[in-house]
Amino acid sequence: MYYLSLGHTRDLSILELSELGVKLRELPCGLIATDNSNLLALAPTLGGTTKVFKSLQPTSPNSLLSDLAQIMFQAEGKNFAFSNYSTSPLTAQDLRQLKEEVSLKRPVRLLSFDTSGHSLIALRKQHVTELSLIDDGGSLIIARTAWIQDADAWSHRDRRRPYQDIKRGMLPPKVARMMVNLGTKGKTQLTLLDPFCGTGTVLMEALLLGQNVVGSDNDQSAVEGTLRNLAWLCQENNLQSTPKVFVSDATHLQEKYPDQLDLIVTEPYLGPLLESKSLPDAKKLKNIARGLDKLYRGSLRAWHPLLPSGGRVVIVLPEFLLSGRSIPTLQIDTIASLGYNYLASVAYGKKDAIVVRNITILEKS
Ligand SMILES: C[S@@+](CC[C@H](N)C(=O)[O-])C[C@H]1O[C@@H](n2cnc3c(N)ncnc32)[C@H](O)[C@@H]1O
Repeated sequence: MYYLSLGHTRDLSILELSELGVKLRELPCGLIATDNSNLLALAPTLGGTTKVFKSLQPTSPNSLLSDLAQIMFQAEGKNFAFSNYSTSPLTAQDLRQLKEEVSLKRPVRLLSFDTSGHSLIALRKQHVTELSLIDDGGSLIIARTAWIQDADAWSHRDRRRPYQDIKRGMLPPKVARMMVNLGTKGKTQLTLLDPFCGTGTVLMEALLLGQNVVGSDNDQSAVEGTLRNLAWLCQENNLQSTPKVFVSDATHLQEKYPDQLDLIVTEPYLGPLLESKSLPDAKKLKNIARGLDKLYRGSLRAWHPLLPSGGRVVIVLPEFLLSGRSIPTLQIDTIASLGYNYLASVAYGKKDAIVVRNITILEKS
């Protein structure tokens, strides 16, 4: 059995796993349980899972300390950390006793961290054996951390890529990765298009997953910037790829790109930047929403002939929230008339945000 710890975007992370075919159970402690035997191979391709624990053995409150000592005698390295996802206490006194017992037979160093849940970077860098206690449906399990997300690599891609443009709005790479997985369902060597590519975040994540990428944007500097980011990514990761990126309005894509695609993954233009200090009134917001609705309909119509039947579109659809009232941009019930089936949607963003970003999966009908 494996147990998974998820990042900040819980619902999206769960959807990512289920679209990749992982059958899962949510535990009351917040972890996700799965017996998927391929999980460790899948983990590095995920955007939403931060840690994987592998079950070592069941235990009980009475035998816990001796079971932990046995595991520590046999483990490699001397650095250990403990996390408790159960209701059974594991006190500082218990850990001192454990350290004394184990250090009679082998060197041991117990690491403690200020934060709850050990810092991923610290765990990776200090080669720590992290043991966790997990309540799984009435059984108490000792598990060992078997995989940790490479936080350094994610932030390197986010912060060090040569072309960045805050005003354009950039997706966090992990969200882009999850969106790609929602579209590909784990298949590789597909042709993936982002027709509002901006700085190329979606295309970068797709390239790392082995897809052929195509990008377009109606802004020349975004196209040039995306090409720079993709070249940088290929150089950093020793990848060979010749991505196609060109200027095009998303609603007239067929004129520039007549070939077939497998899927589209995109965060489109989401409207003007809204400052909470000078918010437009409901009438103006409705006008903005109407304009976006038109852009998204026009785009979905233009993309339809490029996609195979069943081909997916994973798209961020914004919705404005004003004094508790929702102003949507593209009504789900109009999607069928554009030739698509609606499959799922997960809201992403800060709780009190004015713009809620609904990451939506559509499929060509
Ligand atoms: C929200 S940004 C995309 C950001 C991107 N996901 C990233 O992480 O960098 C939207 C992009 O759509 C482009 N855009 C706006 N209207 C467009 C249109 N009609 N057709 C194509 N691109 C458009 C903008 O130039 C902008 O780069």
